[in-house]
Amino acid sequence: MKKPIRKAVLPVAGLGTRFLPATKAIPKEMLTVVDRPILQHVVDEAREAGIEHFIFVTGRNKGVIEDHFDSSYELEDTLKRRGKAVEYAALMADLPAPGATSFTRQQAPLGLGHAVWCAREIVGDEPFAVLLPDMVTKSGPRGGRCLVQCVEAYDQHGGNVMAVEEVPPQETHQYGIVAVGRDDGHTFEITGMVEKPKPGSAPSNLIITGRYILQPEIFQILELVEKGAGGEVQLTDGMIQLARTQSFHGVRFDGRTYDCGSRLGFLSANIAFALDRSDLAPGLKEALRSFGFVSKGV
Ligand code: G1P
Repeated sequence: MKKPIRKAVLPVAGLGTRFLPATKAIPKEMLTVVDRPILQHVVDEAREAGIEHFIFVTGRNKGVIEDHFDSSYELEDTLKRRGKAVEYAALMADLPAPGATSFTRQQAPLGLGHAVWCAREIVGDEPFAVLLPDMVTKSGPRGGRCLVQCVEAYDQHGGNVMAVEEVPPQETHQYGIVAVGRDDGHTFEITGMVEKPKPGSAPSNLIITGRYILQPEIFQILELVEKGAGGEVQLTDGMIQLARTQSFHGVRFDGRTYDCGSRLGFLSANIAFALDRSDLAPGLKEALRSFGFVSKGV
């Protein structure tokens, strides 16, 4: 019997240097895609995948994240008194259950592997999910956002799972890359991984997109793993070691992933999510037409 995936780790300690000056005083995870913080979209995805406990690995100057996932007494009281029932109900629907969030701090920016390791005491001895909060996903034809498809693959294969997507070969050096073994099309066995390979040396053009299901044995490995690409403790390097004794499967996510850590990905996400909203789509289409964009259904 496979253990269910109940807990998710969200590493949110990054400084957001790719997005200055917007992120000087506001955590990058709190920038909004339409009217929801990026991080709220990611938590929504985790909830959809059945996650019950959210572990945020934060850093200094990120206190507003904790406030966002708490009740806001003055605001709730004001909405109730003013009869704003719809807005009040929406806030309440987003509020995590009491005790369903934990916050721990990564005290120094030592890398993703170190950030995940900082959650070891709260995760304990059970498999868990990791969601990189720069990535916002929209479900595709199979249904379910990216972590939902990862949990389905975990139910099928067990072990460790991660989502991947194709990129043009000239972009592989920016990401973690997997090598493909036995393949059923949607999921496949991972036979190798490399973090930020030198141009021309990647084993495939399938990048790790930031949704993982990992077994708790990763923590002992991350404690000892040496600094890798960029002088940081890399999660991928820990996974390479774990793959010596445990299985890893990749999931070709069939929806869309927006890298909201980049300006272009962030802008694209805002347009894509707004076009899904019946209250915003007609006006936005009109605006896009006025810019001279008249194409496929817009
Ligand atoms: C991290 C991971 C990398 C992954 C990427 C996705 O890299 O280390 O394996 O492909 O996220 O965005 P970073 O973006 O932190 O350099």
